[in-house]
Amino acid sequence: MKTPFRLLLLGVFLLAPIATTSAAEPVKFGDALYAKFQHARCLQCHQFNSRRNNGRAYASHRSRYLCDNCHTPRITGLPRGEWMAPHERMDWTGLSARDTCLIAKRNLGVGDVNRKLVEHMLHDGRVHWALDNGMTPNGKFPSVPGGSDEWARDVRAWAESGMFCE
Ligand code: HEC
Ligand code: HEC
Repeated sequence: MKTPFRLLLLGVFLLAPIATTSAAEPVKFGDALYAKFQHARCLQCHQFNSRRNNGRAYASHRSRYLCDNCHTPRITGLPRGEWMAPHERMDWTGLSARDTCLIAKRNLGVGDVNRKLVEHMLHDGRVHWALDNGMTPNGKFPSVPGGSDEWARDVRAWAESGMFCE
């Protein structure tokens, strides 16, 4: 009876460090955030000015001005002037996890890019519109699965792991 018990103990000692190592694996951008960045609610706005991806500026939206006339604050839940599309260099449609992450960081200018990025992801009104709202002048489009609670958890986990793009 003694030998199997010793073997069991030995097994626990051998396996324990392996289990600890995998628990400490860093959270990657590709784990959860990438799929959300590539969700239609983010993409439709981020590709708005992209000719390559036939963004709405080249397709459905010929007029590029006065967005609020149709996307009113009552519809979007945003203050007047906030509903607008980014420059086309912020279009990450179809890019890999690594490139999506690099573009998000590259467009934040100089300074503490990681801090600015977390700040933007947690507090930007348009990001929250995509996560929780999805309302357009033609009715509600599906918002990003998980909403802002799951999003905040994923953003914090990635931030605590060092925010690597790999
Ligand atoms: C004349 C009214 C009108 C104006 C002005 C307008 N939009 Fe729209 N927009 C709509 C309608 C209606 C929809 C929903 C139908 C569709 O998907 O095209 C829409 C949809 C969108 C979507 C897609 C939302 C999604 O997640 O699928 C985006 C992004 C968008 N508009 C951005 C803008 C921006 C940016 C401007 C200003 C540069 C603007 N719109 C100006 C009427 C307008
Ligand atoms: C209504 C349009 C709109 C929607 C929807 C939207 N964004 Fe943006 N986003 C913008 C604009 C405009 C900027 C540029 C803001 C600035 O320059 O201050 C921006 C900037 C960013 C940035 C800053 C870095 C960069 O790449 O420029 C990130 C990151 C970002 N958005 C992520 C997201 C994510 C993730 C979603 C979906 C959950 C999303 N956005 C939905 C309009 C939008």
